[in-house]
Amino acid sequence: MVGTGFYVPERVVTNDELSRYMDTSDAWIRERSGIEERRWASEGTTCAGMARRASEMALTEAGLRPGAVDAILLATLSPDHAFPGTSAFLQRELGLTGIPALDVRAQCTGFVYGLSVADAWVRVGQYRTVLLVGVEIQSTGLDVSTRGRDMSVLFGDGAGAVVLQATEDPDRGVLSTHLHAEGQNAEILWCEFESSASHPRISREALDEGRHYPSMVGKEVFRHAVARMSEAVEEALGANGLAASDIDLLIPHQANLRISQMVQRRLGLTEGRVFNNIQRYGNTTAATIPIALAEAVREGRLERGDLLCLAAFGSGFTWGSALIRW
Ligand code: UT7
Repeated sequence: MVGTGFYVPERVVTNDELSRYMDTSDAWIRERSGIEERRWASEGTTCAGMARRASEMALTEAGLRPGAVDAILLATLSPDHAFPGTSAFLQRELGLTGIPALDVRAQCTGFVYGLSVADAWVRVGQYRTVLLVGVEIQSTGLDVSTRGRDMSVLFGDGAGAVVLQATEDPDRGVLSTHLHAEGQNAEILWCEFESSASHPRISREALDEGRHYPSMVGKEVFRHAVARMSEAVEEALGANGLAASDIDLLIPHQANLRISQMVQRRLGLTEGRVFNNIQRYGNTTAATIPIALAEAVREGRLERGDLLCLAAFGSGFTWGSALIRW
């Protein structure tokens, strides 16, 4: 990973602001999720535009021009349009043409899935420099009323980007990635409409019932998130003959501060070895890990040679982990 970057919209939405739109409170949100505020995009802001800003920061850190990028991977569950993929719009925003642009649809695990694809591309020598972005605009798809309060207080908007580049240094780079999914639980955390199986894809009735908003069985998701993220980290450590005590920094997907803390306890890690920023950004889905990574780099939390671990869980269900020698 030769460059990291992030971008979050300027507008800060506090818990107190949300309590003006729905029956909730700052105390409830902080206690149950750890979230204090999140960023919500203003009218006209696009995922491709936010992804461009994060990508430019990552490319600058890497000392590269956009033209050095050989392939683009973009993870999102909130694409700017049904099609084409947001990666195509990002390619255009970066002034690039011809190189492949692929959207990854693995929700909160999208960045880890994308990292696995990028790593494989680089390893087999297909592409030398890969731009990997996680980006979401959740705010335009939330039910900002008491009916949707369990979901809408959790999510935020933002983008994070990483530039990956081939290296001959055997002591540096992605050690391994580990991916999983369990479609049996697809509807426990999902967005039902629009649906191509529905004629038409959205109906007045579905809109009235709010079935175009995301929904989840929160406690089930919580339980699975703690178990699966912890298992995925153990799996990655086992595959590399390492122990939890070898981890210098764990960046868990930022779904809920309580989930991160439970994973931390299960792995026996001290607080200083886990990076959390959900307090300021909420859950930005595919963007949580790359935003956190970019912030961790800027805060000096990673030194050359450190063992970085990423872990994610989300809708699908999907989950996974990655170990990186920084
Ligand atoms: O990225 C992966 C996706 N998401 C997650 O990983 C989220 C996983 N789940 C969670 O983080 C938690 O389940 C939540 C934060 C969503 C909810 O916390 P909880 O401790 O599981 O609360 P709950 O769902 O059991 O709800 C407790 C009460 C309920 O009221 P009653 O039935 O006890 O009267 C809810 O209606 O809290 C109520 N409630 C709220 N109250 C104030 C639900 N949402 C809110 C709210 N404000 N925003």
